[in-house]
Amino acid sequence: MKPMVQQAQEAAAYIGKRSGHRPVIGLVLGSGLGVLAEEIRHADVIPYEEIPHFPVSTVQGHAGQLVLGELEGQTVVAMQGRFHYYEGYGLDQVTFPIRVMKDLGVDRLIVTNAAGGINLDFGAGDLMLIQDHINLMFNNPLFGPNAPEWGVRFPDMSDAYDPSYRQLARRVAEDQNVSLREGVYVGLTGPTYETPAEIRMLRKLGGDAVGMSTVPEVIAARHAGIRVLGISCISNLAAGILDQPLSHDEVMETAEQVKPRFIRLVKGIIKD
Ligand code: 6GU
Repeated sequence: MKPMVQQAQEAAAYIGKRSGHRPVIGLVLGSGLGVLAEEIRHADVIPYEEIPHFPVSTVQGHAGQLVLGELEGQTVVAMQGRFHYYEGYGLDQVTFPIRVMKDLGVDRLIVTNAAGGINLDFGAGDLMLIQDHINLMFNNPLFGPNAPEWGVRFPDMSDAYDPSYRQLARRVAEDQNVSLREGVYVGLTGPTYETPAEIRMLRKLGGDAVGMSTVPEVIAARHAGIRVLGISCISNLAAGILDQPLSHDEVMETAEQVKPRFIRLVKGIIKD
C-alpha cells in the first residue's frame, strides 16, 4: 500500500481535475445536516467511491459525496457524510478526507455533528458551539510514525476550536437572534449510546454533549494547522435525563427541525 501522504495527494489531484473550484473552507456535515450542501452554488459533486483511496460511507442519512462550489461568496468543499470509527474504519481512514482537504488548499474547517445533551440546561434542538473536546475514543489518528508533511509530532491542542471563530459564531448567532449554547464535546466510539451511569460520569468529567465523531477529524485538522469551528446539534438528551429510550430515528427527526436555524447560522458564519 502507498504511504497515506501520497494517497491523499493523489486523491486531491483527482479532485482538482474533476472540479475547477479551489476551496479554502472545508465543511464536515453530520447526521441529518447534509442538506447544507444543497445550498452550494455551481456545485461539482464527486461521490466518495470515485475518488482514489477514499473510504466509502455505509450509514443511512449520509450521502457519501464531496460537494465543491460557492457558498456565501466563499469557495468551499463539503463532506456530505463522514466516516465513523464505529463503522470499522481506522482513524487514518476516518481522517483521510481532512488530509485531502488540506492538500486542496483548505485552511479553515467547520465540523458539525448530531450529539446527545449531557448538560441539564440543554434541550433537544439546541445548537452548541464546541468550546473544546474530550477524546474518549482511546485512540488517536496520529498514532504511529509522524508524517512531517502534515504536521509536528506533538501538536498543541490548547485552542483546538479557534477562539476568534467562536467569537465570530457568537456574534452571528446574536445578529440572527438564534440561541447558541456553548460547551465541551465528548467523543466516544459508539455505536451503543451511553448508559445513564456513563452519562453521569461524563457530566462529572466536564462534558456538555456526547457523540461518536468529530474528535479524530479535529485532531487531524489541528495537526495540519487548519483552524477549526465546531457546531453540535443537540438531537436528544443523553441517557438517564429523560425517562425514555434513545433512537437513531429521534436523532434524525430533531436534525430535521434544527435544519433551517443550522443552515442560516453556518451560512452567516461563512459569509463573515
Ligand atoms: Cl446520546 N450519544 C452518542 N454517543 N451519540 C449521540 C447521542 C448520544 N445522540 C446523538 N448522537
